[in-house]
Amino acid sequence: MIGGSHRGRFITFEGGEGAGKSTQIELLARHLRDGGVDVTSTREPGGTPKAERLREILLSGKIASLGPLAEATLFSAARIDHVDRLIEPTLARGGWVLSDRFADSTRAYQGARGGVSRRDIDLLERAAVGATAPDLTFILDLPPETGLARAAARRQIGVNVDRFEAENIDFHRSLRDAFLDIAARHPLRCCVIDATRSVAEVSQTIRDLIAVRLVDGVRRMAAQ
Ligand code: TMP
Repeated sequence: MIGGSHRGRFITFEGGEGAGKSTQIELLARHLRDGGVDVTSTREPGGTPKAERLREILLSGKIASLGPLAEATLFSAARIDHVDRLIEPTLARGGWVLSDRFADSTRAYQGARGGVSRRDIDLLERAAVGATAPDLTFILDLPPETGLARAAARRQIGVNVDRFEAENIDFHRSLRDAFLDIAARHPLRCCVIDATRSVAEVSQTIRDLIAVRLVDGVRRMAAQ
């Protein structure tokens, strides 16, 4: 069994709208569970009852008028609860956490696009994340036109677009650049995945990367 007495692994999924993150998390969770891993899937903003309440406020756009720094602060407040009550305890007992978005989303959405300075984002990240940085981050990359079309197609009738999905195409283009920039600055942690390929191909690539980057490392640790 992978996990056990060792600290678990923390994997985050990032990218623009409609990149297929939740589908890939579902497939990976199933695959890891089949291999005996204790897996917790979660999302941001959200993941705990309090953070889910903040999610509702953030995605409704009700506090957009307070500006990007206030939004970034609220995303970070939700993250503090998520890290303290769900992510950290799961990792400490040897479980693996798969999160649909994490701190890179604040850097991309509120930092690169919202104009919050890198210094402020760094401060918020240090406060909210602390030592609980992801071991591996998959950035699911695709042209924003494709992602937005996919997001529109899967939206249920009567459900409104959220605050960020409703931004214009330039916003989504620079968001993509922001995620690619994060990947370039953190090559050991981040893997950019071409998300225009089929669900099965993307899923296989993710499994292969985990085998090379995480599972072998865990086995080596266990053998020591
Ligand atoms: P999603 O769960 O459908 O991806 O929606 C979450 C939305 O919130 C998405 O548009 C990205 C946005 N977001 C931020 O702007 N900053 C953040 O820190 C996080 C976690 C999400």
